[in-house]
Amino acid sequence: MKTSRITELLNIKYPIIQGGMAWISDATLAAAVSEAGGLGIISGVGDTEDVRAEIKKTKSLTKKPFGINIMLMRDNIDEIAKLVCDEQVAVVTTGAGSPGKYIENWKKHNVKVIPVVPSVAIAKRMEKFGADAVIVEGMEAGGHIGQLTTMSLVPQVVDAVDIPVIAAGGIGDGRGIAASFMLGACGVQMGTRFLVSKECKVHENYKDRVLNAKDIDTEVTGTSTSHPVRVLRNKLTREYIKLEKTNANPEEIEALGKGALRKAVVDGDVNNGSVMAGQIAGLVSKKQTCKEIIDELISELDLVLGRVCNE
Ligand SMILES: Cc1cc2nc3c(=O)[nH]c(=O)nc-3n(C[C@H](O)[C@H](O)[C@H](O)COP(=O)(O)O)c2cc1C
Repeated sequence: MKTSRITELLNIKYPIIQGGMAWISDATLAAAVSEAGGLGIISGVGDTEDVRAEIKKTKSLTKKPFGINIMLMRDNIDEIAKLVCDEQVAVVTTGAGSPGKYIENWKKHNVKVIPVVPSVAIAKRMEKFGADAVIVEGMEAGGHIGQLTTMSLVPQVVDAVDIPVIAAGGIGDGRGIAASFMLGACGVQMGTRFLVSKECKVHENYKDRVLNAKDIDTEVTGTSTSHPVRVLRNKLTREYIKLEKTNANPEEIEALGKGALRKAVVDGDVNNGSVMAGQIAGLVSKKQTCKEIIDELISELDLVLGRVCNE
């Protein structure tokens, strides 16, 4: 099963989206995913002119559709929202807030809007606002997370909305994609698996930590400050959690995380930096190109679905 409501909506070959990742998913990664038949997504976090340059670079690398991920708490969000229209980016995914006030204008400019949601209530609200689909992300995912698991949340959202549902969080191979379909999703978004792709710019030390991770190696920091983030356990997470247990004030706790993602992504400091990755890291064991990853996912998916259909 290769076509779905999502492949039709987004005009892509396979129902696989590479999740937006701040400071990580750039033109090179997104274009490689789109060229391989999925939907690549660049991060819209950063200075407005830098984001414009990244959009232009992506357009120069692929003629296929690609998207941009917008984190709605950023200061320059009004400018980035307008930039999406000016540059006619095909798809916007949103996180960290409600995109309500931007949706009408994006839709006027023919931009498909897909918010990331952590609950049924927010999914229903996004549908009411006019979202084209929702990405339902479980707490198995890498990065900022909600409270519910993919397995329990996806079918509940599928029952609650009529727009297409994309599953995210804990999907690492064709079995995960097939399982998402069984739950009623018609596409998937993956982040952790693409972190170790050859086109991904994260430092080799970061990739090696993901490749060597075991099932129990992630930790959630920031629960006490209401900003939970899933990362691989290291010196930073131990200090962070120790501080959280002392009831320190939220500013002091969050100060520990300032610049920590950059430290891991750019400097390769995987002890003191924030190595964001999902629980599925334990299953991710190969550095591959995005094309190899997507081809492998699709052949595994076909195999699993063929087996289910023939039983
Ligand atoms: C390193 C990293 C950074 C991320 N940054 C963002 C982000 O900036 N915006 C966002 O909406 N999601 C972000 N995510 C979530 C991904 O887009 C995706 O939904 C998630 O990785 C899916 O779960 P998985 O990690 O189990 O594949 C990030 C994930 C990772 C691993």
